[in-house]
Amino acid sequence: MDLGIKGKVALVTASSAGMGKNISHALAAEGVNVVLFARTAEKLEAVAAEIREKHGVKALPVAGDMLAQADVERLAAVIRHEFGGLDILVLNTGRAPNPLRATLEETEQQRWHEAYQNQLWGTIQVVNGVLPLMLDRGWGRVIAITSSSVKQPMPHHSLSTVFRAGVTAYMKHLANEVGGRGITVNCVAPALIDTSHRTGGAAYTPAQAEARRKLTPLGRMGKQEEVCGVVTFLASMQAGFVTGSSINVEGGMVGAMI
Ligand SMILES: NC(=O)c1ccc[n+]([C@@H]2O[C@H](COP(=O)([O-])OP(=O)(O)OC[C@H]3O[C@@H](n4cnc5c(N)ncnc54)[C@H](OP(=O)(O)O)[C@@H]3O)[C@@H](O)[C@H]2O)c1
Repeated sequence: MDLGIKGKVALVTASSAGMGKNISHALAAEGVNVVLFARTAEKLEAVAAEIREKHGVKALPVAGDMLAQADVERLAAVIRHEFGGLDILVLNTGRAPNPLRATLEETEQQRWHEAYQNQLWGTIQVVNGVLPLMLDRGWGRVIAITSSSVKQPMPHHSLSTVFRAGVTAYMKHLANEVGGRGITVNCVAPALIDTSHRTGGAAYTPAQAEARRKLTPLGRMGKQEEVCGVVTFLASMQAGFVTGSSINVEGGMVGAMI
């Protein structure tokens, strides 16, 4: 199926590794030119080179920190200079502070502050910086990566869930405000996605993996490409009447009917 987004320009934040990198590849495979943004320049350069070679699109690495206003302003200026505007914005972030703990054990202000900055403020700051590049185009797609824990809290995830819920609320407000400019705004809410890329091997002990598998009717962890597929669909022409929504990608873990 032609998704109708060939030649569009996408910014994917937190894209030097993991889900952000995979989403960038998935969009590039549809002929989308991608701007990659994360802190580590060498990793970004390598991802950009891979994307250019594999998909034949433009891939522009911009090294910077989502938490640094000057870096986000520079990112917006580079996109304006190189592409004249932006069509697709995928808001991926770094992870909540490790290790995640039981809620009553999350007593340190510093960890709450870091979680807020990483997940909520960084996202808002990027929207502030780059959304003006989308407003004049009369068409756009904003997709935030949140967590299914917003719908069904997972044990030990409060440090993440609280701010992903904040991102979800922010995106709903934004959807209401920019819909009239042709821009849809949605969340993709994953859980139980295999992140063995982070450790170079199994991310969980066999007992942890088994416990996770039991949480879903599908009886397995999710694959990165299963998140990428939903993001790519939301970026497509065909998803034009979907806005203000959150789509879970969690193998049926969430017990609610809708
Ligand atoms: N796996 C799941 O089931 C699941 C479920 C729900 C949500 N998530 C969320 O999905 C997101 C991606 O997960 P992942 O496993 O792909 O993470 P990851 O492998 O740790 O990658 C995180 C990316 O974020 C970048 N980054 C971190 N802080 C940044 C900052 N301040 N500014 C710019 N870039 C920054 C990192 O690059 P640099 O270090 O180079 O900056 C890296 O590219 C995370 O937020 C995670 O919590 C995952």
